[in-house]
Amino acid sequence: MRRGVLVRLVAVGLAVAAVTLAVALFVPWLPTPASKQADRIDFVFWFVTAISIAIFALVVAVILYSVVRFRAAPDDDSDGAPIHGNTTLEIAWTAVPAVLVTVIAVVSAVALAQNEHLPKNHLRVNVTAQQWVWSFTYPKYQGLTISQLRLPLGETVQLKMHALDVIHSFWVPQFGQKQDLVPGITTQLIITPKRLGTYPVVCTELCGEGHALMRSEAIVMKPKAFAAWVVAEQRAVAKASQAPGGGGAGLAAFNSNGCSGCHTFKPAGSNATTGPDLDNLAADAARAGKPLEAFARTSIVDPNAYIEKGYQPNIMPSTFKSLPKQQLDALVQFLTAGQKK
Ligand code: CUA
Repeated sequence: MRRGVLVRLVAVGLAVAAVTLAVALFVPWLPTPASKQADRIDFVFWFVTAISIAIFALVVAVILYSVVRFRAAPDDDSDGAPIHGNTTLEIAWTAVPAVLVTVIAVVSAVALAQNEHLPKNHLRVNVTAQQWVWSFTYPKYQGLTISQLRLPLGETVQLKMHALDVIHSFWVPQFGQKQDLVPGITTQLIITPKRLGTYPVVCTELCGEGHALMRSEAIVMKPKAFAAWVVAEQRAVAKASQAPGGGGAGLAAFNSNGCSGCHTFKPAGSNATTGPDLDNLAADAARAGKPLEAFARTSIVDPNAYIEKGYQPNIMPSTFKSLPKQQLDALVQFLTAGQKK
């Protein structure tokens, strides 16, 4: 090959690489990672992207050069010279991809192994998914259950996940991983948060009518703030249990069944807006012409019995009709006692 050809090929290749690199770097393809695991996944992503850009630039440079240099004249209908085999080239285009694919496999395997490593010191959180709510339980804190995931910065967390009805999938884009929750088995995800903030928890497996609404939040807090939050939350549960109406069992049922994931209810400290605001339960019952308690009970076990204006039927899970009587009673008492008089 003449030197001039090589120089031109390299020049075109560099130009293509520069444009491709700009597209790769200046478009925000990935969310800013908020966990150590996401960092490793991002590293693999950029590693593969860099290799791809190099190969893309090489191929485009050769194509562009060939198109320009060897194009046929408008009146030239003759065939090109016959070509058969080029052992050197064939070995090269087999060996180079084989090496690249092996290297990518090794880099990916190392990242995966590191992401699945669970250090001895870790916080365990049980994640429960059901149509169409998330709930998070902390065995370390007397089974404290909430509808938003709260995590201390820098501490590795083991999410033990199970589904009550159909397959769901847990995804926080900034944490970089997805994990299915499958009825009958327990799956797990390991997260080491490294950036403070509030991130969306998304269900990423089509799980029924309410799938698009099956969202929550993951809140990464400073360890001190997290500890303070745990104490405050436990105090609130204890206080509620002494309140008239036996709020403790009711509040526990409210949180563990995921009510707080969809409803605003001041006595429970929840402010979700997927379903009706339960602070207005008394007014809703009056509008339906039903006694408050009967209205609350029916609305739990048969959610489609009354649909508030502005809300859709079939969004609230119908699974609560199998709620143990004790829990249902406590829940009804908690809801009715919490109404403004
Ligand atoms: Cu749960 Cu989609």
